[in-house]
Amino acid sequence: MNVLILNASPRPKGNTAMLIDAFKSGLAEDANVVQLNLYEIQPKPCMACNACQTADRCCFSDLDELDMHLRKADLLVWAVPVYNYSVPSPAKAVLDRFQRYYEAMEVRKENLFAKTDRPCILLLSAGRTGLHSVDIIQKQIKTACRYTGFVLHQTVFASNTDKQSVDSAILLSAEEAAKLRI
Ligand SMILES: Cc1cc2nc3c(=O)[nH]c(=O)nc-3n(C[C@H](O)[C@H](O)[C@H](O)COP(=O)(O)O)c2cc1C
Repeated sequence: MNVLILNASPRPKGNTAMLIDAFKSGLAEDANVVQLNLYEIQPKPCMACNACQTADRCCFSDLDELDMHLRKADLLVWAVPVYNYSVPSPAKAVLDRFQRYYEAMEVRKENLFAKTDRPCILLLSAGRTGLHSVDIIQKQIKTACRYTGFVLHQTVFASNTDKQSVDSAILLSAEEAAKLRI
């Protein structure tokens, strides 16, 4: 099973990292895991150049590796801290760059992805209650999933991280989320 983890946190030992570690600990030993740290990639923003309107391409190559892994993933994990009711800017850049897949599916009617129902897990944390943010981010991720052949299967949400570390019950949920049968 190919697992692609998109880490949208800049903090190597932060709350998102804790959720990712817990998730990984629940994966089968033979899972093939690729983790891409979006703050290392620093994706360029979509320039609305329309190159992807007429063919499966992008004017930038910085997400080619992500694109390759996305196509062969059996399971996708978005690991995201809430920033201003939304996702951090590198993750927003990736979501905007998924315009490429929107154009393929909705405009050119091309299937870039062999399957349409691959599972996606959202690992989310917020400093406060996450009121509104969870809805907003789930909508963003569900839309991205639709154009890339995934379905949002589960959200594991750690709230109030400004006051407390991610608690053990939430970490256990992240670990359990990795045990889904595909
Ligand atoms: C720039 C910035 C914006 C943030 N905006 C929000 C917010 O709108 N709502 C919220 O509940 N927490 C917000 N937070 C708090 C983070 O979501 C929270 O600390 C999260 O657990 C951080 O995850 P990390 O440790 O992986 O970086 C913000 C943090 C930063 C640095």
